Amino acid sequence: MLAALMCIFAYLLGSVSSAVLICHLFALPDPRQAGSKNPGATNVLRIGGKLPAILVLVFDILKGTIPVWSAYFMDIDPIHLGLVAVAACLGHIYPLFFGFKGGKAVATAFGALLPIGLSLGGLLILTWACIVALTRYSSLAALVTVSLAPLYTWWIKPLYTEPVLFLTVLIIFRHRTNIMRLLKGKEPKVGKKKEKEE
Ligand code: G3P
Repeated sequence: MLAALMCIFAYLLGSVSSAVLICHLFALPDPRQAGSKNPGATNVLRIGGKLPAILVLVFDILKGTIPVWSAYFMDIDPIHLGLVAVAACLGHIYPLFFGFKGGKAVATAFGALLPIGLSLGGLLILTWACIVALTRYSSLAALVTVSLAPLYTWWIKPLYTEPVLFLTVLIIFRHRTNIMRLLKGKEPKVGKKKEKEE
């Protein structure tokens, strides 16, 4: 019962689109209508610069961390903890409060995995940062990082490998337009102004 309530809480919290709200607060265009049209930190960086993007990133990470950590301290078992993490990401991807049109859940999934351990968090950040530094593609960094996440989890806390694998599949699926743009050489790089979208 408690686990089901925490899944609902995680989904509802995940459904709060920080990108849309923060863009509104900063009088920026709606991230669902501008740039890559993705309500996420990368697109907010394109549209509005570093401060709103950092705020979106922090809020999106917390949307994953808060419910999973709360559930952990309520002694909810590992399988249900995995479901709470998945529910938070589903909320971000299919938000109840924003017409079920959400983002790609990279930051929220990262936040949801943080309670597994700082070593996993560190490995994920390191992987993401290396790929961004080498290629300047945020989406490619996310794709490589989520693809390695189940392997890292299996190595650090094997118990959580299955829900992490599910999140990997979900996030890769959400990046299908990015994958197409990467293959066509049309994906915008981070840190570059006025890139053409799609
Ligand atoms: O986390 C989302 C990022 O991987 C891609 O974002 O705006 O380039 O589609 P975007």
